[in-house]
Amino acid sequence: MQNSYKPLRIAGMGYSVPETIITNDDLTKLYDTSDEWIYTRTGIKERRIVSGNESAVDLGFIASQKAIEKAGMKVEDIDCIIAAASAPPQLYPSLACNIQARFGMANHVPAFDMTAACSGLIYSLQVARGLIGSGLYKNILLVAADNNSRLVDWNDRGTSILFGDGAGAMVVTEAEDGIDDVLSLDIRADGSIGQYIYMNMPGKNCPLVEPCDEVDSTIHMAGRDVYKFVVTTLPDFIDECIEESGMSADDIDYLIPHQANQRIIEAMQARLKYPDEKVISNIEYYGNTSAASIPIALVEGVEKGKIKLNSTALLCGFGAGMTWGAAVIRLREGIC
Ligand code: ACO
Repeated sequence: MQNSYKPLRIAGMGYSVPETIITNDDLTKLYDTSDEWIYTRTGIKERRIVSGNESAVDLGFIASQKAIEKAGMKVEDIDCIIAAASAPPQLYPSLACNIQARFGMANHVPAFDMTAACSGLIYSLQVARGLIGSGLYKNILLVAADNNSRLVDWNDRGTSILFGDGAGAMVVTEAEDGIDDVLSLDIRADGSIGQYIYMNMPGKNCPLVEPCDEVDSTIHMAGRDVYKFVVTTLPDFIDECIEESGMSADDIDYLIPHQANQRIIEAMQARLKYPDEKVISNIEYYGNTSAASIPIALVEGVEKGKIKLNSTALLCGFGAGMTWGAAVIRLREGIC
């Protein structure tokens, strides 16, 4: 990014997860599986899932309230909302518009969704960086929220073991002290391997034309292909992102990866030669919460004392698309 761009400050963050917990043992009531099988292959023990009418909108709203409060702002200060969901509860109105409505914002600030699956938080940070950097907007609310438990096929033991529900939010603003909290950031996509993870929208042809087959609109995933793709693509990409930041891997305090599979997290840890204390993992308790997984891991890591602020972190994520992204960011005191 050119020097004339305005620097960005990460001002506040928050997260929210539903109260209902489903353990691996609970899943044995649905199909033939075991806690041992799931835990050894994924690192997951339990996940949170929505119940009743609760949805990603509720989770995203709560996470956003916390992020705005931590930023020391009022909701009227926000001048743009970008929401990242793998699949929002409604395709339209967007998740961002639903959250704007929940806040009762009457000032008509733009609100839109940006779909990049589990890379959504990093993608939306890049978009916000452009919008703030160019001076178009000043205080942007980024919300990553998903209720994956409504999208998985609960008969499919290959996918339904993995996902959980949750939301994370981040308020970003122009850094008036001139210090940019994004030291480097890059996002990528390869649509030619989109079939690795996909979810169709339901739909059928007009009755006046030839009928078509009804599509299955649950999450489909070629787990092994995803795994191989990630462990071959992400390490070099992360190296480039670190180099771009002007830091060395050793200088960065924490790795906060997308929580998709503990074995993938460990592969990245091994590549970076990081001790356990530098690697933030909470997949055991939440499973894969899509784009929300990085902000949840970050804020919860601070709450639990695993992350000390006034530090730096390497974020990296990947997801359907396939999409992927990484960023080296500054974690200022007081952001969460
Ligand atoms: N319990 C018991 N057995 C199971 C289960 C289960 N829950 N699921 C699958 N099996 C069986 C299969 O039927 C298969 O049996 P078979 O050999 O008799 O046919 C065997 O276990 C192996 O199945 P695989 O699918 O090959 O298992 P694998 O070792 O690849 O593990 C897993 C599956 C955990 C999904 C792994 O591939 C993975 O984590 N991949 C990465 C997934 C990922 O990171 N996704 C990111 C999504 S991000 C986004 O954007 C949505």
